[in-house]
Amino acid sequence: MDKIIIRGGKKLKGEVIISGSKNSALPILFATLLTDEPSVIKNVPSLADINTTVEFLNFIGKKTVKKGNTVRTYPSEKYRHIAPYDLVRKMRASILIMGPLLARLNRVDVSLPGGCTIGARPIDIHLDAFKKLGAGIFVEGGYVKTLAENGLKGAVIDLKFPSVGATENILLSAVLAKGKTTIINAAKEPEIEDLANVLNKMGAKINGASTGKIVIDGVDGLRGFTHEVIPDRIEAATYMIAAAITKGDIVLKSVIPKHIEAVSNKLKKSGFFVKENKTSIRVKWVKSLKPHNIKTEVYPGFPTDVQAQWMALMCLLKGHSKIEETIFENRFMHVAELQRFGANITVDCKVANITGVEKFSGAPVMVSDLRAGAALVLAGLAAEVKTIVSRIYHLDRGYEMLEKKLKKLGADIKRVHSS
Ligand code: UD1
Repeated sequence: MDKIIIRGGKKLKGEVIISGSKNSALPILFATLLTDEPSVIKNVPSLADINTTVEFLNFIGKKTVKKGNTVRTYPSEKYRHIAPYDLVRKMRASILIMGPLLARLNRVDVSLPGGCTIGARPIDIHLDAFKKLGAGIFVEGGYVKTLAENGLKGAVIDLKFPSVGATENILLSAVLAKGKTTIINAAKEPEIEDLANVLNKMGAKINGASTGKIVIDGVDGLRGFTHEVIPDRIEAATYMIAAAITKGDIVLKSVIPKHIEAVSNKLKKSGFFVKENKTSIRVKWVKSLKPHNIKTEVYPGFPTDVQAQWMALMCLLKGHSKIEETIFENRFMHVAELQRFGANITVDCKVANITGVEKFSGAPVMVSDLRAGAALVLAGLAAEVKTIVSRIYHLDRGYEMLEKKLKKLGADIKRVHSS
């Protein structure tokens, strides 16, 4: 298994180009199932989750080819309606296969996605929505079997929580349902708007994406599309924190600053220099910093996907801070690993209490999930001596060319292959 070795203490400096958003590209790739015409998706990051999705689409019957950062899909073969365990288990976002297949075939059998290290992550909100749209659902042999004998019919769907994935699955199915669907308490994340833009390019009639109330007027068919995926706001936030934690000075290029305002604002409140331009952000370390509390929230609040990285930074600022995780019930797996660097953190249910320490000392650490992994790399970049990060396959799910980008910024980082 590969490992990352970091010799910390280098101040990162220079420019970094932010890749296309993983979380936007995934639902857009699944949207190609809604049309028989060819489509072209640009700015798709080269990541393990993207490869899994391309493999998945080909298995279902949609010829899909990724070359560089462009994915092309071709006129469809007959689709299969079964998504087996081997494909679904690799990635929770696989459940986004449900919406398009239900819309096209009126049925879909998906292996249950199972648990995950950051929490139970059930799919009840997705399934309740499909029921509202007229599907019958039962579980058999580890599969959720969904059948809409008479096709999908528009409905009013009031989400008990603004789930990102459930909102996407409803969009991906209701676009071809008969009549009008209204999603109340819909997710407002930028990835929802990007998906709605793609679906509208395909001929769908969606209004209100990003407002929390989305209205979809069902249409009979959809056409192919060309689209460029939005920049990855979570990757961007990770590099902003890399500048902060290494006492560096980094300019991020190809970003949408508004999408990361929650993180920029907290960095500014802690005293860092943050300057936003139209498509770039500069983050620079300055003296006299103080830690700042955060509470993770749905967009536009502070993203749960940046909580671990923020924690690594707070551990090195003099004073006390609190981090409250409100989106996932078990997303402090990185605490024990950060403690191996010398961090002073205690956890009380959903709240982590941090007392800043003067420095981190490098250690062998293990990645438990994607963003926890990012936090450990950040800690390693700031730590004295050597850090060895193992189980880095989690990082390969979400960070394109991580070592290459960090090396270009001046980090002493390398990947080693070990058996
Ligand atoms: C997406 C992102 C993920 C991010 C998360 C929250 C993708 C591929 N992943 O995940 O990186 O951390 O949004 O911003 O876009 N829940 C239920 N029942 C459901 C669905 C969700 O209880 O049917 C709960 C989850 O367990 C979790 C919370 O709702 O506690 C948020 O989940 P959701 O917004 O659905 O996140 P994902 O779409 O899985």
